[in-house]
Amino acid sequence: MMEKVGGLKARIEETKRRLGEKLLILAHHYQRDEIVELADFRGDSLELSRRAAESDARWIVFCGVHFMAETAAILVRPAQRVLIPREDAGCFLAHSVDPVQLRDAWKQLSQVLDVERELLPVAYVNTSAAVKAFVGARGGACCTSSSARQVLAWALERSPRVFFLPDQYLGRNTARSLGIPEEEIVLWDPHHPPADLSRYRQARVILWRGACNVHVRFLPQDVDRVRREHPGAQVVVHPECRPEVVARADEVGSTSYIIRTVQNSPSGSSWAVGTEQRLVARLAAENPDKTVFSLGDPPPYCAYMSLTRLADLAEVLAGLPLGEERGLVEVPEEVRAGAASALNRMWEAIGAGG
Ligand code: 13P
Ligand code: SF4
Repeated sequence: MMEKVGGLKARIEETKRRLGEKLLILAHHYQRDEIVELADFRGDSLELSRRAAESDARWIVFCGVHFMAETAAILVRPAQRVLIPREDAGCFLAHSVDPVQLRDAWKQLSQVLDVERELLPVAYVNTSAAVKAFVGARGGACCTSSSARQVLAWALERSPRVFFLPDQYLGRNTARSLGIPEEEIVLWDPHHPPADLSRYRQARVILWRGACNVHVRFLPQDVDRVRREHPGAQVVVHPECRPEVVARADEVGSTSYIIRTVQNSPSGSSWAVGTEQRLVARLAAENPDKTVFSLGDPPPYCAYMSLTRLADLAEVLAGLPLGEERGLVEVPEEVRAGAASALNRMWEAIGAGG
């Protein structure tokens, strides 16, 4: 018979007490409520990677998706261990680019550009360690949704062209916010590269054609419907949303930015929120004096973020006192070093040090 929720929670709490400061449980805002409640810290991608990098814990259990745990594993010291309760928790964006495709794109673009001198790659943190390493080896940087603007500005100061990957929408939204003209933002479709590559000579920002299949579900018509049906409601969206949605919204920002924006708004405010539904539902529950609802109809969930259940967390924790590291995330040293350099350039770009 499946163990009851109360029993699982009690077991997790007991292991947390037993391991004390040796254990740090991190949870992304899209995780299930029962996981977020048991975590030592919840945050957006940038905050979570910072917490991991600053932690002295022996074990960091990362409740989120694989690229987040892998990023933590790149940033921690050698004696520290990062574990993920569900190794199959992927990310649609991270799956939309691999090093082979990227190498291929780089080679094709080298027909019209001096890629080593005039093309700097910027990888959204929603990528594998191998993709980050490719970027790091070419002087490029990583970014998260909350650091994208500073990182893209940093990259454009250093190079006439930037290859932003893999989220075309985050890339376009960020490039627009920096005032890059539309004709200088050019899409790169890894599955159908154009025969004539000359247009990339005019580009300032080249966008990999990837998108998050959760955020892509929000449409401009959803914003129009909210404006019609909920006059007075404000719209806050994640920058992975389509540019037509972002252009109609009142506010745009990372998951933590969305939370702060709603929390800091006056009592009685109404918010339509364009991001993953577990966060939206929690935000509504935590702000009973406000009206908080999804911009989407129906509201989209991230299937990968939903995978982690209490039983998965309990199982990883049960192994630790026995010396078993279930769900250990390992990054080969030759990949880790390159990926770390791309992540460190992100800290440099946002003025946070490495
Ligand atoms: P944040 O960095 O805003 O938490 O976003 C992570 C993510 O995967 C959004 O879909
Ligand atoms: Fe990846 Fe989208 Fe899920 Fe975020 S919401 S983890 S980008 S699939």
